[in-house]
Amino acid sequence: MSSRSRSLPRRSCLSTPGSSSRFLAKAPTATADFSFLDLEDSVAPNEKVAARAKVVDAITNLPWDDRVLCVRVNAWDTPWTYGDVIDVVGNAGPRLDEVMLPKVQRASDVVALDLLLSQVERNAGLEPGHIGIEAQIETALGLINVEEICASSPRLESIVFGPADFAASIGMPVTTIDETIHDGPSNPFSYVFAKILMAGRANGLHVIDGPFLKVRDLNALRFAAGISASYGFDGKWALTPDQAVVLNEVYSPSQELFDKSFDILDAYRDATEKDHTGAVMFGDEMIDEASAKIANSFVARGARSGMQRTTK
Ligand code: GLV
Ligand code: MG
Repeated sequence: MSSRSRSLPRRSCLSTPGSSSRFLAKAPTATADFSFLDLEDSVAPNEKVAARAKVVDAITNLPWDDRVLCVRVNAWDTPWTYGDVIDVVGNAGPRLDEVMLPKVQRASDVVALDLLLSQVERNAGLEPGHIGIEAQIETALGLINVEEICASSPRLESIVFGPADFAASIGMPVTTIDETIHDGPSNPFSYVFAKILMAGRANGLHVIDGPFLKVRDLNALRFAAGISASYGFDGKWALTPDQAVVLNEVYSPSQELFDKSFDILDAYRDATEKDHTGAVMFGDEMIDEASAKIANSFVARGARSGMQRTTK
């Protein structure tokens, strides 16, 4: 439910094809913060309709613990979107937290989904606003409109980058999404990352990086994930349970950083409350209100991932 899932971590977002009962059965065993059951690009066109019932069955019958649970429906330029929403949200019950909408081009794409969800929720006896929305930015037009998209509905929880479709949309000369995309004199995604991150943060959304397709190379994944993590992204898609393990680590603060953040907050509190000064030396660094804000964000991120302070 969106009030439940909004504050949960999303370091690793595991994708599972909704047409595969075998992969669906395995998905809850992965140590992922977030699972989405896919009706879009990992499902063949002639399996799309049959996959809906498999996804409903998986949502209602598998042991999902408290991770965020989402279904990715097909985009509005296909024949399947409304049927995906009616059949899955209408029958999955309250354990489904979110719907992911791919290839979002304009704010009105999200508004249309929001309106449809309101009717389906009523008819299914779900709380109004129960289902959150994740919007995928994976076209040039979607990126241009990302600010309006991020502000388009109170149901929005995350904005997600889709690098594979995006590369196709802008004509990048690549055939896969791997670490080499970030090589060379410039990172072609740096503008994209910054733009999506600003739009998401300005609207209080989680900001998520998309898939890394060379699935067997976990070191290369660690490198690529480190880039969006360094911008401040909250997590990234995992295509396998092994990728999820790496991502949980990359998008958590290190224990050293987590502990240091508490130490900074203690030092800043002493400085402001006892010594009545706004800036103070912390080792060889000057810290002030902004440092406390940074430290608070690491504390929140670590706490969301279940970390404990080991100093003091
Ligand atoms: C994900 O949907 C992508 O296109 O990268
Ligand atoms: Mg895509």
